[in-house]
Amino acid sequence: MKKEHKIVHGFSKKSRDEKLTIVTEKNIDAANALAIFKSFHHADSKMQNLLEEFSENTISNFPLPFCICPNMLINNKAYMVPMVIEESSVVAAAANSAKFWFTRGGFKTTIINTEKIGQVHFLWKDDKALLVQKFADLKEKLVKDCFDITENMVKRGGGILNIELRDLSDKEPHLMQLYATFETIDSMGANFINSCLEQFANTFKQWHAAQKEFTKDGLEIIMCILSNYTPNCRVKCYVETSINELDNIVAGMSGKEFARRFRLGVRIAELDPHRATTHNKGIMNGVDAVVLATGNDFRAVEACSHTYAAQSGSYTSLSHVDIDENTFRFTVEIPFALGVVGGLTTLHPLVKLSLELLDNPSATELMSIAAATGLANNFSAVKNLVTVGIQQGHMKMHLLNILKQLKVPESRKQEVIEYFKDKVVSVSAVRNLAERWSLIETTH
Ligand code: MEV
Repeated sequence: MKKEHKIVHGFSKKSRDEKLTIVTEKNIDAANALAIFKSFHHADSKMQNLLEEFSENTISNFPLPFCICPNMLINNKAYMVPMVIEESSVVAAAANSAKFWFTRGGFKTTIINTEKIGQVHFLWKDDKALLVQKFADLKEKLVKDCFDITENMVKRGGGILNIELRDLSDKEPHLMQLYATFETIDSMGANFINSCLEQFANTFKQWHAAQKEFTKDGLEIIMCILSNYTPNCRVKCYVETSINELDNIVAGMSGKEFARRFRLGVRIAELDPHRATTHNKGIMNGVDAVVLATGNDFRAVEACSHTYAAQSGSYTSLSHVDIDENTFRFTVEIPFALGVVGGLTTLHPLVKLSLELLDNPSATELMSIAAATGLANNFSAVKNLVTVGIQQGHMKMHLLNILKQLKVPESRKQEVIEYFKDKVVSVSAVRNLAERWSLIETTH
């Protein structure tokens, strides 16, 4: 099909059905494409409208599986953790790990801090020493002028924590910033922080204009925005057991041997950024699934965790192993800015339900739950990698998916699973067998 490069005007103003027609009309089979998009519309038009309003230019919905990881024992409280994710092995891995640690004390967490960050970036061409000297006066004004924005947050125990002046002019001429820290309690705080920062910028401009020592063009505000890197909004989570308790975690392997190989598996991720990336992806499998189910911003969480993993200047593992005499301890430390109020939390019925399933946690409790799920996933992945290998578990899932795809009758699936126990699974191998055993119609 020859593509036309014509600009589309006013797309967002069209109705949903008009948008659908525009998008699908050039499709080879427009009627089919339209029917598929429409088949994912919610039967209840009120609900469909609500879902559409969460975003812009919505033409359909994109459902993902809503899964549960049972048996997550975190700080002595048992949770059924909601996970929204399309990778079945992730939920299976988290569930296995959760069950294993349930009888070994579960996951223990500590909140290191809950501080969020925002910055006003500006160019300063006036006397810098004078700005430093007068900063205490400016700071007082910045906080005071934000009163209307911060009043409610302060009542809830949060607000502006501090504002510092930072000088980056050795890297870029005249570049400086107001570096502000905030406590946003149970909200992620993006709107709150950005509103405060924009007010800071206005106050700063007015204050600068009113000082006779400064010049008309001495201050130029470049931008105001929160930072998604919140290293001091961080949770530490660990599991711990005696090494004997790890005996036979994989049939025939001693706890000591397992712990030795597991430590090496994690050590490789500490040393090598290629492995660290995949290792941390395994942690984020669990974290992101909880973050999505609870309506939080998984892009922010991802960006933050990877910056943190690179804080030493070399990208490394977010989790670590300590083996001490007869004790095995596996720890993850990870920063997140999560919210349990505002945003989607009261608007999206499934997000609301996720939070209810978790007993309406505070933001810090949710940080603990997400970190524990990440560690659960990480434990299962490294355990499999250093023992039976990753493909054994994955292939079982892969086989189940192929059986479903080929429409092998439920009553015959177990025979096929038995057959492939010691064989390599591929779509063609399963199809050939299914045809030979007349479980499906032949394709040739
Ligand atoms: C797959 O989604 C995640 C793993 O690759 C993580 C890891 O290698 O540690 C299994």
